[in-house]
Amino acid sequence: MISRRRFLKGGGAVVAGAAIGSGLLHPALTGVAAAADLDPATIPKFALKMPIPPVAKPWAENTMARWFSLTMEETAVEVIPGKLTKVRTFDKSFPGPTIRAKRGQRVEIQQTNKLTVPTSVHLHGGHVSEGNDGGPMDTLAPGGGSKIYQYPNGQPHASLWYHDHAHHYESENVYRGLTGTYLLTDPLENVLGLPSGAYDVPISLRDARFDENGQFVYQVEDFLNRNVILANGKAWPYFEVAARKYRLRLFNTANMRFFDLSLSDGSQFDLIGSDGGLLEAPYKTSSIAISPGERVDIVVDFSKYAVGTQLELRNAPTAAPGGPGDLITKVLQFRVNRTEADDSKVPAKLRTLPELPPATVHRNIELSMDETGSPDDKAYINGKVYDHDRIDTEVAYGSTEIWTVTNTNQIAPHNFHIHLVQFRVIERGGRPVTSGPESGLKDTVALMPGESVKVQMTFDGFRGKYLYHCHIFDHAAAGMMANLRVV
Ligand code: C2O
Ligand code: CU
Ligand code: CU
Repeated sequence: MISRRRFLKGGGAVVAGAAIGSGLLHPALTGVAAAADLDPATIPKFALKMPIPPVAKPWAENTMARWFSLTMEETAVEVIPGKLTKVRTFDKSFPGPTIRAKRGQRVEIQQTNKLTVPTSVHLHGGHVSEGNDGGPMDTLAPGGGSKIYQYPNGQPHASLWYHDHAHHYESENVYRGLTGTYLLTDPLENVLGLPSGAYDVPISLRDARFDENGQFVYQVEDFLNRNVILANGKAWPYFEVAARKYRLRLFNTANMRFFDLSLSDGSQFDLIGSDGGLLEAPYKTSSIAISPGERVDIVVDFSKYAVGTQLELRNAPTAAPGGPGDLITKVLQFRVNRTEADDSKVPAKLRTLPELPPATVHRNIELSMDETGSPDDKAYINGKVYDHDRIDTEVAYGSTEIWTVTNTNQIAPHNFHIHLVQFRVIERGGRPVTSGPESGLKDTVALMPGESVKVQMTFDGFRGKYLYHCHIFDHAAAGMMANLRVV
């Protein structure tokens, strides 16, 4: 574990680094685990194989719908080599099983909660009715509470994910494992010839802290001590690939950690998609940042590497100020172990995004939190802490709005996520966004201290009450969450 003093020494890098929650403001909350911490340096790197979560099988299916049933329950899995960690799962899978869905074919999932805490299952990025959105108060009781969630899948293809959202439990539930990916496809995506099947790989990235017995240590605002990086539920795994193109869908499912990812040889890859599906055109880059809740979709062409090559997916060292930098800069290792024919491609044109109707309403949204260092610090949207009964923003059905979202903090990064809609980031820091990682459809956007973005969205499809919040769950739990009502 890093001491607070050692961390603060690296303070110069704090604001520059994209990674810091406000954990540094809460010395009282660090270092009080019952068992001693497991030193992440002692965990073997690239020793476990990265699994691909199982694809959930529907128990019934027709052209209109597919029916699933998932059970939330505790189990123990090997997250670090040679130890079993107790985790909260969907169907004993850590992370949860992948749901594959098609546009126009409804998905219904019966969720049953066999845990000892309340849960609520939210489909992040999904365009669904209020009653199926998995709101914070709409919980499934522990010990068997059950509900059928209906997802119409009327929206275009997108890399969605599902996770717990029960008020005051979500942060720990997500930390302990209640997440899974939900890949929604459509004909538009399918005709492109992108790498598919076994070459289309969802990878959920997060961090964690362990005690000597291999059990998770969970404390709020504990970002600085979560120095073990997991990919698909394994600590620093390896993944064997053929020398060909792969589509990698990267999900940031961490509670607080921002990742800034690149390949260890510095080579470029094609960024092809973000939260709400494909970009209009591939974008060549050698690094990509993702904040909690965000997704990026990249194509890496391993054909330029000889069989036997080992290559790492790395996290930027700026994401580790003062900490055990070389640990959290490691993420996973690719091992090129065979050649293979490859007829997949990355077309120069991927999609045409829907026109943006003119906006008629403009709003300002301010994200802030106390930075006094007290454990009682609160977090706010427009100066108010979350009240589940209060409607903060009333929106007319069908209207298009521009929200200017600003992080007014000096130290803490935030991000902004809104339920129900996908938005476009039209400006960042006063400059128009016309290409690159934020030019597609988005539902979550990062905001470093002092930053501001303009997002534009149209509220249609459903009326009702939905959330918007910071996706750093500890900030959301401290109040940085608000209600929107579409009327
Ligand atoms: Cu990823 Cu309100 O959620
Ligand atoms: Cu969401
Ligand atoms: Cu925040």
